[in-house]
Amino acid sequence: MAAPSSPVRAEARLAPMRVTSVGHAGLFIETRHGSVLCDPWFNPAYFASWFPFPSNEEVDVERIGNPTYLYLSHLHHDHFDPEFLRELVAKDTTVVLPDFPLPLMERALEELGFRSFVHTRNLEPVELDGLTFTIPAAVAPTDGPLGDSGLILYDGATRIFNQNDSRPVDLDALSALGPYDAHFLQFSGAIWYPMVYRLPEKAKAALGRKKRENQMMRALRYVEQLEADFVFPSAGPPCFLDDDLFHLNDFDRDPANIFPDQTVFLEYLERHGRDSGRLLVPGSSATLGDGVCAIEHPHADEDVHAIFANKREYLEAYRTRRQPTIDAIRSSWPRGEVDIVASLREWFEPLLEQADMTCVGVNGRLLLDWGEQGAVIDFHQRLVYEWHGEEWDYRLGIDRALIESCILKHYEDWVNELFLSCRFEAERKGPFNEYVYNFFKCLSEERIQYAEGYYSEQFHEQQMWECGDYLVQRRCPHLKADLTRFGVVEDGILTCTLHGWQFELATGRCLTSDDRRLHCEPLRRGEAVAAEANGSSRDEEVPSARGVGPGGGSPVIS
Ligand code: FES
Repeated sequence: MAAPSSPVRAEARLAPMRVTSVGHAGLFIETRHGSVLCDPWFNPAYFASWFPFPSNEEVDVERIGNPTYLYLSHLHHDHFDPEFLRELVAKDTTVVLPDFPLPLMERALEELGFRSFVHTRNLEPVELDGLTFTIPAAVAPTDGPLGDSGLILYDGATRIFNQNDSRPVDLDALSALGPYDAHFLQFSGAIWYPMVYRLPEKAKAALGRKKRENQMMRALRYVEQLEADFVFPSAGPPCFLDDDLFHLNDFDRDPANIFPDQTVFLEYLERHGRDSGRLLVPGSSATLGDGVCAIEHPHADEDVHAIFANKREYLEAYRTRRQPTIDAIRSSWPRGEVDIVASLREWFEPLLEQADMTCVGVNGRLLLDWGEQGAVIDFHQRLVYEWHGEEWDYRLGIDRALIESCILKHYEDWVNELFLSCRFEAERKGPFNEYVYNFFKCLSEERIQYAEGYYSEQFHEQQMWECGDYLVQRRCPHLKADLTRFGVVEDGILTCTLHGWQFELATGRCLTSDDRRLHCEPLRRGEAVAAEANGSSRDEEVPSARGVGPGGGSPVIS
């Protein structure tokens, strides 16, 4: 970014922005207006499957544990490490929160003891004592664990965009918020596809090759659009140290492996005419500003190079160091403590009952198979029952210990605990179906209501329902609960019982918050009757359990 000469610039030269990698997507950003700790991740995630690569065991955690601000992009456990946050980050740190629909992050941080929060709005800058935070928030059910985000940070002289693994869609808005001195983004895979699928090796390799190419191409598009002075590969790949998963690492630049490392992407950028890429490893610092980037690594350049050049050797040594941790986690898994079918029935059936759009979207039976037995989640009948050889459309083969863990800990998002572990096998008849995995992200009433509301809005701009003498929008303006299920009317006031928000039916005014209105209009009985007689009642827009599908939507994540 060109440097205008101004007093602000002169001051900035005295205290430039310094960004230190703390591993994976983790950054410790020091500015003249305070420091920001982003996405610190140190403990293994997803049933001891993922570890940061390169290792961040040598990062000085004392140095980063007392930042001015904490920013977490989302709740995936390679970005949200509760153990680290609980033990090592000062609880009076101000947390800058993305604008996510459900307050899951704030709740999780409150449970860890954090008490100071700043709420942002999507793409709206917030200035905090000289430092400007702008957070693009992605909120589709497919975005991370019901929300993913990036951070644009500006200290008056230097502006960086920490995109990490989010996929913002409004590139014009992002460009308008620039120019950027630095851009940190994901380029590598962070998913179980295609490795866990039961497919012929050749087909799997072809899918892997395509995925590797696509993910780097997508990152390149962001780089081209945002034109930052410097680009830093970030937020991956993880590495896999458990013996069961060690083969997933990309040791030798296998074109079919979805976990290429930072050096592969930097070379890819160069091949596409971009020399702005720079490598950071945990402990490396980049001092930015005035179109200059000075990098200091924690080790000699040849040692940094050796991590990538001798990766197998590096990972074998890393595995040996972390083996006791892996063994301890594995030995803590429960086995034989839970009646899986009965527990899932009790948990999932009430959710299926509310999940009109999801059930239509899945449109089949899913077999959860743990070897000696299986449970069918039947999205047609909205039932869970023991498997007796029924036909299935989707099959997930999972060690019963992991299913038992999910049940005992009542994990409301199995993607963020189980599926990202890659410790399962998947089969399906037909194409990828996003509703299947989204269901497993939404294992609470609040979550399923949000997803259902989101799908409904995509499908029908404004579904209405008949509520006494009014036609009222079907989804609650707060967090999209289905008001036909959760709405209670008394004395002209509609209360959504999911969180208790209230609306005046005569005006649509929200009595709980001043920035949300309920769309309602007086019901004109004559018109309604006439419409019904013509077979075109507006109620027909409301999807029934099986009558209307969510638009034939297909894969967004894979
Ligand atoms: S969804 Fe929260 S009050 Fe309706």
